[in-house]
Amino acid sequence: MTIMDISTITTQPFSDQRPGTSGLRKKVRVFQTPHYLENFVQSIFDTQTDLKGGTLVLGGDGRYYNREAIQIIIRMAAANGVAKVIVGQSGLLSTPAASCIIRKYQTSGGIILSASHNPGGPNEDFGIKFNTANGGPAPEGVTEAIYTRTREINEYRTLTADEIDLDTPGTQTLGDTRVEIVDPVADYAALMEHLFDFERIRQLFGAGLFSMRFDAMHAITGPYARHILEEMLGAEPGSVINGEPKEDFGGAHPDPNLVHAHELVALTSGRGAVDFGAASDGDGDRNMILGRNFFVTPSDSLAVMAANAHHIKGYASGISGVARSMPTSQAADRVAEALGLDCYETPTGWKFFSNLLDARRITLCGEESFGTGSDHVREKDGLWAVLFWLNLLAVRKQSVAAIVQEHWRRFGRNFYTRHDYEGIDTAAANGVVTHLQARLAELPGSALDGYTVDYADNFAYTDPVDGSVSENQGIRIGFTDGSRIVYRLSGTGTEGATLRVYLEAYEPDPDKQNRETAEVMQPLVTIATALAEIESRTGRKEPTVIT
Ligand code: G1P
Ligand code: ZN
Repeated sequence: MTIMDISTITTQPFSDQRPGTSGLRKKVRVFQTPHYLENFVQSIFDTQTDLKGGTLVLGGDGRYYNREAIQIIIRMAAANGVAKVIVGQSGLLSTPAASCIIRKYQTSGGIILSASHNPGGPNEDFGIKFNTANGGPAPEGVTEAIYTRTREINEYRTLTADEIDLDTPGTQTLGDTRVEIVDPVADYAALMEHLFDFERIRQLFGAGLFSMRFDAMHAITGPYARHILEEMLGAEPGSVINGEPKEDFGGAHPDPNLVHAHELVALTSGRGAVDFGAASDGDGDRNMILGRNFFVTPSDSLAVMAANAHHIKGYASGISGVARSMPTSQAADRVAEALGLDCYETPTGWKFFSNLLDARRITLCGEESFGTGSDHVREKDGLWAVLFWLNLLAVRKQSVAAIVQEHWRRFGRNFYTRHDYEGIDTAAANGVVTHLQARLAELPGSALDGYTVDYADNFAYTDPVDGSVSENQGIRIGFTDGSRIVYRLSGTGTEGATLRVYLEAYEPDPDKQNRETAEVMQPLVTIATALAEIESRTGRKEPTVIT
């Protein structure tokens, strides 16, 4: 072993290290700026003092710069007195698997390297986030403390040592620190086997009457999906497509939606379509669920899960409640109401679910942005959602479309769409919000193209567990017929601003539930774009992405 040499390096603060909706995300070249990553990591060690003498979980989605960053963080962990670092083999850990390992081994927390669904590569994005001992994304109090530290930091600690061999499982030592390289899949797969009826899913695949494709989008879930779906559950080899993780995700956007997962969409459409399609994102926490010629909106997916949890082994004893992020459709609320479950509306971002999960107020939660999860970890979980659906299909022996359509007949349908205006000028984006904010007071009671405004506000949330308050979480305009328009600015982008417009319309009449979403939403789209003066303020006639 090399003799260790701890060094204290002098540095200067960077002004732009405030974490967003999900950690600190920047272009790779920003993270490569001398001291940039180190400053942020040292700010984690300086503020999260339990890490000293504790255990840190470390891994990432395998994007460009992942391996270099892992080596830097291991050296800094050793220099900062971390007793043990658990690292996913080859530096890989999906976000939900990291959360699983943090919890299972009762560690002090984890550092996950990912920019989620953002593209990867030398000219694309990188990211880092800290998860606390409960396995969840650091709450705002923690991210603010880390940020405050980044503003005053003047030195960081590291050590001179050989590189750790990330590819061989086993324990290595770096000074007084043990570095354990672990199989990234094993613990996660065991948890999934505990929650779902694998025997039943095996029968579904074994009967030869059911076909599926899982699109790993050249991102982290490839090894997880191959092992669980193909090896453990017996899905036909080749059921997992794009299963080789790549540093640049094959040059694509690893974002599971109808636009970016078009290859999968094609496989579930037309003649010869498979029965079930699913995809996950860069770091494995998002999911998209498709049936044959059928798209399940993430909002509906959460509602269907809540209504069917009793069919699933791990949830058969009952669920305590559900939560959705504010812009997510109110479909889950209707299930909660019918089943007498508690229902919570939280700001955007998974971190707001953690307290509710820890306090056992909720069991299931989700976001319209292709995120669903439960109390099994403290992150959203892509493959978990896929297994939930497979288990449900195996039990109910119906198609995806039949299950969802039956759900709508029972609870009503919440038509839903999101329009994103990406890469717009930041001042213009802020101008849209200021303009809307100024109109909030006069809107209630007024009529907009025949829709009567019921309420209009800027969403604020008081956490029912710790009482913390989060303000300015998005403009909500609710109409008397249950439809809704929501506007908010993205907190995950790395260039310019992204305006998100979320639209929802409620349809209780089964005879009208099979209309086209675009057609149903058109009147609300017209109101939303006019009200926010989107075209004149941003210069955009059309959104960049519609999901
Ligand atoms: C987006 C989604 C949000 C999700 C986050 C992290 O954040 O809208 O629901 O939690 O990514 O995956 P945004 O860019 O809107 O701030
Ligand atoms: Zn993600």
